[in-house]
Amino acid sequence: MIYVDNAATTKMSEAAIRTFTDLIRDTYGNPSSLYEFGQQAKDVLEQARRDVAEAIGAQPNEIIFTSGGSEADNQAIMSAAKIGEIRGKKHIVSTAFEHHAVLHTLNKLKKQGFEITLLDVHENGIVNAAEVEAAIREDTCLVTIMYANNEIGTIQPIKEIGEVCRKHNVTFHTDAVQAVGHIKVNVIEDNIDMLSASGHKFHGPKGVGFLYVKKGVGIFSLIEGGAQEKGKRAGTENVPGIASMAAALKESVANLDAYKAKLTPVRDRIIKGLSEIPHSALNGDANNRVPSNVNYCFEGIEGESLLLLLDDKGIAASSGSACTSGSLDPSHVLLAIGRVHDVAHGSLRISLGEDITDEDVEYIIKSVKEVVEYLRGFSPVWRDLVAGKRDFIL
Ligand SMILES: Cc1ncc(COP(=O)(O)O)c(C=O)c1O
Repeated sequence: MIYVDNAATTKMSEAAIRTFTDLIRDTYGNPSSLYEFGQQAKDVLEQARRDVAEAIGAQPNEIIFTSGGSEADNQAIMSAAKIGEIRGKKHIVSTAFEHHAVLHTLNKLKKQGFEITLLDVHENGIVNAAEVEAAIREDTCLVTIMYANNEIGTIQPIKEIGEVCRKHNVTFHTDAVQAVGHIKVNVIEDNIDMLSASGHKFHGPKGVGFLYVKKGVGIFSLIEGGAQEKGKRAGTENVPGIASMAAALKESVANLDAYKAKLTPVRDRIIKGLSEIPHSALNGDANNRVPSNVNYCFEGIEGESLLLLLDDKGIAASSGSACTSGSLDPSHVLLAIGRVHDVAHGSLRISLGEDITDEDVEYIIKSVKEVVEYLRGFSPVWRDLVAGKRDFIL
């Protein structure tokens, strides 16, 4: 099988697996226990905190371990909203193509009387920092904008957005789940106040993530319970998972240059290959995207059929459409960059991993071409397009 769905999740690295298995076997003490065996687990936990902090340019006491990216997003946004409410500031700026962990949290706040401004991400899938500045008001308590988009991989001008937020004294959170471990992220250089990340997106385990909270920025626990994580996240820490995530992150960050050098030409080769398919288009900016992401729309076909036929050919990819999750709505990300419903339904996301070979790449291009042509062969939409009964959009 050729696995090209690394934006959904990644294979755990050998270092991450080794760390995890060693710890569950040998260091199973509770880090809150005062005896030596508990303190060994505590030492492992604190070393992981130092490693994670170093990987993003933070201080160890600025890291809160969570169950993943979704929890980190929820905690950051709900905390900023709570503080905003106390100060009489109930306006939040975000974008239309955030992950649902952000969008659904913002919707919840909207029902509680917050006003949410969702900025346009334009055709290239990139937010404009000047538009962020124009959207900030006296009563804005938070700007939350993702670092890299999970479907189309486009990278946002985080440093500039952070600068604008500093200038106006507004807290800035970024969902960096698709960026950390894939591109260089430094919370100081990037002017970030809060950042969410998730272990399973950079070869760590699932169900573990972290939230960076800059010293001085207020944060509340979402979970009532014990005093773990300095009272900011109750619940016995998942020490093996956390240490395993830290091992994966350390390795990913050390390999960032090699990762970029290997995957950028592969990504561009696939984009070039797929561009030979008539009536198709790349989604998102061609260059300003993570090295691993290719996202294409093909007119006249359904993304789900494309995925299933690629699966038959041994290729595990993803569709931007939400149909797979039981909804008939096309991807909100593709709609946000201006794709119409029919076109957004025919999308394919290929998210690469470092182990991809040249042979895999050529096989993927050939297979996608074959499957698109095959599906168009019996698509009534395609027949109408060819017969001139409908206008081509792409
Ligand atoms: C951009 C983004 N944010 C948040 C999440 C949620 O992360 P987790 O699966 O760790 O809860 C994901 C996962 O797909 C993501 O891609």
